[in-house]
Amino acid sequence: MCNPSFITKVIKIDPEKINNHDLREAVIILQNEGIVAFPTETVYGLGASAFSEKAIKKIFRAKGRPLDNPLIVHIDSMEMLESIVLEVPKNVRSLCEEFWPGPLTILFQKNSKIPDCVTAGLPTVAIRMPSNRIAQRLIHLSGLPLAAPSANISGKPSPTSPSHVKDDFDGKIPLIIDGGQCQVGVESTVINVNSIPPLILRPGGLDYEELRKFIPDLKIYDKHYKNKDLEKHPSTPGLKYRHYSPSARVILIEQNQQNMQSVIFEILNSFAQNMSEIGYIHTNPEIVLEALYLEKLGYNFVDLTKKALKTIVIEKEIYANVAQKIFWALRMLDSKKVKYIVVEGISEQYSGLAVMNRLRKAAWKIIKK
Ligand code: TXA
Ligand code: MG
Repeated sequence: MCNPSFITKVIKIDPEKINNHDLREAVIILQNEGIVAFPTETVYGLGASAFSEKAIKKIFRAKGRPLDNPLIVHIDSMEMLESIVLEVPKNVRSLCEEFWPGPLTILFQKNSKIPDCVTAGLPTVAIRMPSNRIAQRLIHLSGLPLAAPSANISGKPSPTSPSHVKDDFDGKIPLIIDGGQCQVGVESTVINVNSIPPLILRPGGLDYEELRKFIPDLKIYDKHYKNKDLEKHPSTPGLKYRHYSPSARVILIEQNQQNMQSVIFEILNSFAQNMSEIGYIHTNPEIVLEALYLEKLGYNFVDLTKKALKTIVIEKEIYANVAQKIFWALRMLDSKKVKYIVVEGISEQYSGLAVMNRLRKAAWKIIKK
């Protein structure tokens, strides 16, 4: 366990009106090899200087993270990128120009300034430039690239609000910067442009559809392409370790069922004796459920389909809304102490790809046709 003797301070910052003074304490901690939780547009990160082995070890210890699972390094400029990698290939530079700052993480060959513990001994380092203004300012003021995994205890759902970070790390870290809810809600897309074929190693906040416009031969690992050697190594995100799991057992109902509705009711009926122990996450707008009826019966019902806003018909936005709230929903139902969480699968389009990736990894049971 990590040092339990901190009194965790929470500093609230408005991303529209950032006062450098409010970040002073965080900067001092980071420059003195400590760790700080901070907001990004995807999820909250648990950050430390990417130059300090001592600080990096604190991250692994606090999270209970296996040492062979490498971290993402966050930067605020192309100059900072160039100072920590061997080279920025031309094709990669144009991707950075197109998608940074934003939820895209790219693998580079690291230089010797980045200690091996950041990359778990790999020659490559995963780097991204976040668009969240607080994250950018924090990196800028500290003058440090920040290694930051998601700010959750290893294996738990990622944190999309400061209260999630507090739930996992209260008393274990000195400071949480509260920048409100994360807008994207799932982690960044991790890509390797230099593999053959170029690969999405982890689907995330930047859609495959968007990336493919710039990398036509891009493949999604585990969907279009598999390689046994890669799977031996945890650097292919999420393949080796348990991920995103709440304490409740997640039952995922895959989408391509002939009659999803009746499958759902069959499952709910099997729990009919103890409905208050069941959480239900409604994600799929094509499924018509009597939400109020289920709530009256005593199920803990969460609706992520944005049905209230009938004007929103753009598919992409429906998926983005599920992505933004999915970790929140898992954590919220956990706080109600449900034993099972039943969740509908959605189509793997746009953010639906990342959502399904996370749900399949979180699942205790997957119901397929
Ligand atoms: O959106 C995000 O990416 C968030 C925020 C805080 O930026 N961070 C995040 O970090 O999700 P983490 O540690 O929870 O996930 C990083 C993933 C890991 O699954 C790891 O395997 C992969 O990135 N990764 C890191 N370095 C790698 C490398 N050199 N090669 C392949 N995968 C790598
Ligand atoms: Mg994580």
